[in-house]
Amino acid sequence: MEKNNPLEEDLLRLEELQNITQPFMQMMMEYRCAMEEIATKLRNLNDEFALLYDRNPFETIKTRIKRPVSILEKMKRRGFPVTIENMRRELSDIAGVRVICSFQEDIYTLADLLLEQDDIRLIQKKDYIEHPKPNGYRSFHLIVEVPVFLSSGKIMRRVEIQFRTIAMDFWASLDHKLRYKKNLKHGESIAAELKDCADAISRIDGKMQDILIRIEGDDEPKRKHFEENSDAPPAAE
Ligand code: GTP
Ligand code: MG
Repeated sequence: MEKNNPLEEDLLRLEELQNITQPFMQMMMEYRCAMEEIATKLRNLNDEFALLYDRNPFETIKTRIKRPVSILEKMKRRGFPVTIENMRRELSDIAGVRVICSFQEDIYTLADLLLEQDDIRLIQKKDYIEHPKPNGYRSFHLIVEVPVFLSSGKIMRRVEIQFRTIAMDFWASLDHKLRYKKNLKHGESIAAELKDCADAISRIDGKMQDILIRIEGDDEPKRKHFEENSDAPPAAE
């Protein structure tokens, strides 16, 4: 039997690899676009809100695309055959946006303003601020679908958005460390202490919100003025 020469074999393998890689890259590109679309919408709301209230509703916005190995692991863990179609159908967190606010109320304001936009479709809402997880985890989660315009037309892609306060984010990063530590000495008592911290953080977030309302009480007229003259925003100070 005649043997392929090594170069030919390599080229065949490369072609095979490209057949898998190309649709995967296409999928990742679509989610990256959806993620950027959501981040832009939130940044725009932030800018407008800053003009209205003289402060930013969020401190930081972070975007992340799930790593290919994490995508594969999750598909396998859930028992789905690894195909692009299944990834699109079963995973809601390929594209993720995290919005970190100073105040709890701003989380709800931002989420409402985003969901009011007519090209956003709400898929799922989980309010872990109203209903914290047993470990103390608090955040407001949305899964939305947003249109992405490609040369071939419009497609809808899902994005997971997590809203939390600075303090909740601080807590979640330490909790994350705990989650991935196996066979930790005193793991249970650490978890209990973390739960206490989560509750304390929630009380502080609530108090900070109350203080803000008392400080900003006088600012209401500025917002009214802006709404009445919404065609002509006041000049920046
Ligand atoms: P997956 O966790 O993505 O499988 O989906 P789910 O259905 O459990 O969704 P959920 O909304 O509960 O969690 C989605 C994401 O929120 C997680 O991937 C984490 O990023 C974050 N999250 C949820 N629970 C916790 C928690 O207890 N601690 C921390 N640090 N993060 C959490
Ligand atoms: Mg989970």
